[in-house]
Amino acid sequence: VSLKPYNTFGLPAVAQTLVRITSDADVRRVLDHPELGRAPKFVLGGGSNIVLTRDVSQVVLKVEVKGRRIVEEREDAWIVEAGAGENWHEFVTWTLEQGLPGLENLALVPGTVGAAPVQNIGAYGVELKDRCHEVDAVDLVTGRSVTLDAAQCRFGYRDSIFKHELAGKSLITRVRFRLPKPWQPVLGYLDLERKIAETGITAPDARQVHDWICDIRRNKLPDPQVIGNAGSFFKNPVVTQEQCRDIIGRDPEIVHYPMPDGSFKLAAGWLIDACGWKGKSIGRAGVYEKQALVLVNRGGAIGAEVVTLARAIQESVYGRFGIRLEPEPVVV
Ligand code: EPU
Repeated sequence: VSLKPYNTFGLPAVAQTLVRITSDADVRRVLDHPELGRAPKFVLGGGSNIVLTRDVSQVVLKVEVKGRRIVEEREDAWIVEAGAGENWHEFVTWTLEQGLPGLENLALVPGTVGAAPVQNIGAYGVELKDRCHEVDAVDLVTGRSVTLDAAQCRFGYRDSIFKHELAGKSLITRVRFRLPKPWQPVLGYLDLERKIAETGITAPDARQVHDWICDIRRNKLPDPQVIGNAGSFFKNPVVTQEQCRDIIGRDPEIVHYPMPDGSFKLAAGWLIDACGWKGKSIGRAGVYEKQALVLVNRGGAIGAEVVTLARAIQESVYGRFGIRLEPEPVVV
């Protein structure tokens, strides 16, 4: 089975075996299977956070669990649930259509609902962890269904237990969200402040925020349907106050944000841009013209070309700033 249509980078790779999973029972059927049962497994969601550099010898479990529902209304929140195989953006739109705001800042993030907790997706001041209630998963060894609350998921910046202890060991089937009442817009991000200034709308509703976010993203991030990519390719690095002061001394323009613990987050896109990478290519892999943090497939690229480009960027950023950039997607 070709995995090219199943990864947003559009990289070529072949899986020997691919099984579509639509329920917990489907997982258990695979585990009980005489041959597939013991074989190593590879869980595939929307393929929006992976770089495939080789064929996949593991049994690919393609998550296609569907369903969206309002679970309950509480005094202080709505609880809503979606199957892991639902498209993330369509789910966000659906919640807004139901009159349930809270996920609008995460509109247009590529991928599926089930992949969202794995890397704790975040954008424009909201992270999945701020809205996550519970995650249902199936243990890929025992076949048991388990539920993790948000604390058990150990969310961090683009990080969770699913990238560590549970990597390859569990398959997320459903996610429940807690959408707080009363709703309060999150508008602190510079790009949103600009929208408020431009339009004069100072008290936007959730639909308006959603539309602004879509507009902002469409203007600077490539649509994976048109240009293959996996969103931000590197995490924004966090440095100490001393390191930050040192870099500002040499590069006063550097984009940096203070963190609650006294450290500073640097804009990786700015660092890459400053090294002159924007719009450049190595082979058929390139750096997006409008956002240097996004690597793109210029057409027909293979995983190795993306990795070569990523390494070259890491080296030049390290050479100039002494900072090691960490890739955000999972390199297979
Ligand atoms: N910048 C440049 N040159 C560039 C790109 C960015 O100078 O080529 C500067 C911008 O001017 C801006 C700063 O860097 O001052 C930050 O850029 P931006 O607001 O675009 O956000 P980001 O830090 O690059 C992060 C997330 C995105 C998320 C946005 C908005 C990470 C790794 N990326 O990007 O998430 O959409 O903030 O919240 O944290 C993703 O993870 O796939 C992703 C797209």
